[in-house]
Amino acid sequence: MSLYKNKAKFYDKFMEKIGKDYEKEVGTILPYLKEKKSVLELGSGTGNFAKVLLDNYFEVICSDVSLEMLSIAKEKGINCKKIDMRSFSLDKKVDVILSLFNTLMYNKNEIELKKNISSCKNNLNTGGKLIIEVNNPERLLQTDKHVYSVEIEPNVYITQIDLREGVKLFHHFIFIDLSSNELAIDTHETTIFASERIISILKEFFKSVEILDKGNHRYFIATV
Ligand SMILES: C[S@@+](CC[C@H](N)C(=O)[O-])C[C@H]1O[C@@H](n2cnc3c(N)ncnc32)[C@H](O)[C@@H]1O
Repeated sequence: MSLYKNKAKFYDKFMEKIGKDYEKEVGTILPYLKEKKSVLELGSGTGNFAKVLLDNYFEVICSDVSLEMLSIAKEKGINCKKIDMRSFSLDKKVDVILSLFNTLMYNKNEIELKKNISSCKNNLNTGGKLIIEVNNPERLLQTDKHVYSVEIEPNVYITQIDLREGVKLFHHFIFIDLSSNELAIDTHETTIFASERIISILKEFFKSVEILDKGNHRYFIATV
C-alpha cells in the first residue's frame, strides 16, 4: 500500500482525525501573500492548503509527483500539474511557491534540496516569495520515535510509527482493515535538514530570508 497512491482516498480523513487545521495554517502565511496573486504549491497532495487559498481568490496550481493525490485535488476544483519538486520549469512564472507540511523533507540529500530551491527561484517573478514550512528540525533531531494510531473509518485503522536514524526520519504507515483482513505497510524515507543549512542554501539563491516559529511549525520565507 502507499498512503500517497492506492490509499490516497484515506488521506483527507487521516488529516481530519489527527486534527490538522489547514485554514489556521494558511492564516499564518496570508500576511506574506499580500498583493501576490499566483501561487504554486509543491507536494500539494490532495490540495487542502490550495483549496483555502482558492477560496481567498488566489490563482492556485497544485503540484505533486502522485497523480492519485492530484486527482483528489482536481475534484476540489483546483488546477493541477504533475511536477517533481526537485527539478521543474513552469510555462509562466508565479508570485509565490509553497512547500508546506514537511514536503521539503522528501529531498533525500542536500544535492536534491539545492536543486529544489534553485528551481523555485527560477520559477518566481521578481519580488516573489518561497514559503517553506517544516516541523522544527532541531526538535525533530531530539526525538527518536513517535507513535500514534487512528480509526479513519469503522474497522479501518492507520498507525503511524516515526523512527529516526541520525538525520533520516522514517515514517512507517501501517494500514489495517479489519473487515477485509488487509494489513499493509508503507515506509517513507525523509531527511531532517538543520535550519542553518536550509537558511544557508536559501541565501545562495534569494535576496532575503526570514524565519517564523509557530509552535512546532518553522517557516522559512525567502524573497527573490
Ligand atoms: C506530507 S505530504 C503533504 C501534502 C500536502 N501538502 C498537505 O499538507 O496535506 C507530502 C507530499 O509530497 C509529495 N512528494 C513527495 N516527493 C515529492 C517530489 N519529489 N516532488 C513533488 N511532490 C513530492 C507526496 O506525494 C505528498 O503528497
